[in-house]
Amino acid sequence: MTRTTAGRLADLMESTPSAWSDADAYLADLLVGHDAALEEALAAQREAGMPEIEVAPVAGKLLNLVARISGARRVLEIGTLGGYSTIWLARAVGPDGRVVTIEAEADNAAIARASIDAAGVGDRVDIRVGRGAEVLPTLVGGFDLVFIDADKESNTIYLDWAARLGRPGTVIVLDNIGRDGEIVRDDTTDSKVIGTREGLRMLAEDPRFDATALQTVGLKGWDGFALAVVV
Ligand code: DHB
Ligand code: MG
Repeated sequence: MTRTTAGRLADLMESTPSAWSDADAYLADLLVGHDAALEEALAAQREAGMPEIEVAPVAGKLLNLVARISGARRVLEIGTLGGYSTIWLARAVGPDGRVVTIEAEADNAAIARASIDAAGVGDRVDIRVGRGAEVLPTLVGGFDLVFIDADKESNTIYLDWAARLGRPGTVIVLDNIGRDGEIVRDDTTDSKVIGTREGLRMLAEDPRFDATALQTVGLKGWDGFALAVVV
């Protein structure tokens, strides 16, 4: 495309939420594409009436790539929901790898179990039903990557356990750090935003972590994730 054409196109395009969503869908189409197992997992989740809060397709693929790039073989996920991100992670660890995933709701765990099995990665995935704060102390450590995507109010508890169950070099991904920009509001009363801010502050101040955070704008709206390493 010539600069003139690009410039004219830029004049026509507007930076709006629907343009961001369209661009996200374009990227997902191009780089993720059709994936029957993942689409069936989402259909089962919708059918069961779970909230539509799983990671976006491009974010699921990012998790998969981060796990592969870091050579992760043991992954811990906090917040299974319908198993969408679990499948992405289970694919990354390979046939000898293992994903332990914690889900508070037994009904969600049953749907996730079926979708993960149908995706052909069931033998790599261990679903533990219970609240994170109760399940985490029962786990054996040595995780290479921890994905935290559960109740935001418990983010600092989950980060503490991620450090304890990890080792220097363990990768941590913390979901939902943007929250429509609410994180900058000191006067917020939303417990999810407060929990998100506390998680971010812990990543910044606790010497066990080195972290950054990226905002995302797309199918799930304006949000983001933090990426950290255990020092
Ligand atoms: C919420 C939780 C999530 O994990 C997410 O990705 C989006 C929203 C929520 O509880 O509001
Ligand atoms: Mg999330």
